[in-house]
Amino acid sequence: MEKKSAILACILVLNMCTSISLVQCEYYSQSLPYNQVKEQKTSLHFYMHDILGGSKPTAVPIARANSGQGGPAPFGTLFAIDDPLTEGPEITSTLIGNGRGMYVSASQDAIPTLVMYMDLGFTSGKFNGSSISVFSRNPITESPREMAIVGGRGLFRFAKGYITVHTHSFSGNGDAVLEYNAEIVHP
Ligand SMILES: *[C@@H]1O[C@H](CO)[C@@H](O)[C@H](O)[C@H]1NC(C)=O
Repeated sequence: MEKKSAILACILVLNMCTSISLVQCEYYSQSLPYNQVKEQKTSLHFYMHDILGGSKPTAVPIARANSGQGGPAPFGTLFAIDDPLTEGPEITSTLIGNGRGMYVSASQDAIPTLVMYMDLGFTSGKFNGSSISVFSRNPITESPREMAIVGGRGLFRFAKGYITVHTHSFSGNGDAVLEYNAEIVHP
């Protein structure tokens, strides 16, 4: 209702060619002071399973540079991921969500660095339906390493923070279990 009358008011103002500055007819609204809501910090601890091998991999290569470089993930290799997140390090432990998105092998150095573009979505407990957005480099041989949290959904709307990552285990065929400690500041 309010919207309708606002639109009507806009049309009126436009038709009359008046310059009533109180009514806005633009694609933007008036900027208002941002009253910061009290922020809180939530810590999360879970494991991410990045499985490249077997019949049901959770990370699959989707593009590769035509550089002739060898190895499982040479510079310019892009993977799509749907990695399970669990409470404990075992894949059979309680499933709490999934990490969906992509990572790209983005380093020309001898030591591989990935850049992660992913949404870690939670499917159980208090944060069911909420997610955190990660956009960060990930120097996979460093332990611990740090990734940036740049946003989120649901209860993590407006989130910011970081994740400390430890490689819990790594098998020959590239399967990895990663321990994630997330520190999240959010409303
Ligand atoms: C999570 O939320 C979805 C959607 O509301 C619901 O269907 C599901 O049962 C919830 N899962 C848990 C474990 O609470």
